[in-house]
Amino acid sequence: MTSTIQTSKGLGFAPWYKYQNFWYPEHLLSVTLDMQATFKAQPSDIILATMVKSGTTWLKAIIFAVVNRHLYASTHKNHPLLNSSPHDCFPFIHSIYEKNNQNQLDSMPSPRLLAVHVPFSHLPASITESGCKVVYLCRNPKDVFVSLRHYLDKMKPVGCEMTPFDEAFDLFCQGVFPFGPFWDQMVEYWRESIKSPEKVLFLKYEDLKEDLAENIKKLAKFLGCSFSAEEVKRGVVEEIVQLCDFETMKNVKANKEGEHGALVRFKNSAFFRKGKIGDWKDHITPDMAERVDKIIEQKLLGSGLMF
Ligand code: A3P
Repeated sequence: MTSTIQTSKGLGFAPWYKYQNFWYPEHLLSVTLDMQATFKAQPSDIILATMVKSGTTWLKAIIFAVVNRHLYASTHKNHPLLNSSPHDCFPFIHSIYEKNNQNQLDSMPSPRLLAVHVPFSHLPASITESGCKVVYLCRNPKDVFVSLRHYLDKMKPVGCEMTPFDEAFDLFCQGVFPFGPFWDQMVEYWRESIKSPEKVLFLKYEDLKEDLAENIKKLAKFLGCSFSAEEVKRGVVEEIVQLCDFETMKNVKANKEGEHGALVRFKNSAFFRKGKIGDWKDHITPDMAERVDKIIEQKLLGSGLMF
């Protein structure tokens, strides 16, 4: 297997490895292979697949609030999202595997809410075959690149150097990106969402920012738990919008002070930076933007997907 793995400098402080056309940080490659081989999906599972830094934490909170709205009112001070991190309410499958804690999967209530970053073609076969729902989220790649650089800089162990910004941008344009090339990851999920719209829902961060209430309704319908007219009238959708608002989430004690993760520990606060569209303009020059825009246009040509 080693002969099939290509290595590159990463966009942050550590090398990444290309396996079956997609790039992985080292600590996630072996767990992904393990997950592919052994994860058993249940038809009721809800799988959130995301491009890194596309608003995963946000969408975890939204889906959790939507699916569990009959258990927890969004306005209640004891709501799990006001007392714990979305990453605890809605774990990554790879974190469960990293902790070697697969028993957790058996004890989760149905529907199990589980997240991944892997491309569609690297999902465990049981996910694609079981008929469970897959929600995919991506974001303008320029904002993702900037968000990822800030994040990796925060995560960098003492004494490690970041790949210089321009060099990292070059690598990004060549397709070096966690669980990417990002264009291949987006196109795989996009095509699946067209082919099987009842199984894969394709969402963009920018659309959620533009009209979260409408997207929450769309999401609930896709997940088979549409809002009743009475709930809409009562303002339940708006309450979820408020609960998952950037400032609300950022100021939850567990999100300000807590940590999550297995071998690598992540400060929850690192998942709330600016939460804006277009922050790339403060970091990427117009020339660089033009270069990556051309690449994206060319890579997405004919797919029907646009950014
Ligand atoms: P920025 O770094 O651009 O601010 P992920 O959860 O996939 O790691 O994504 C992190 C990005 O989502 C960060 O983007 C973060 O600020 C943003 N984010 C987190 N919570 C959010 C929310 N409630 N609303 C909008 N954006 C949010």
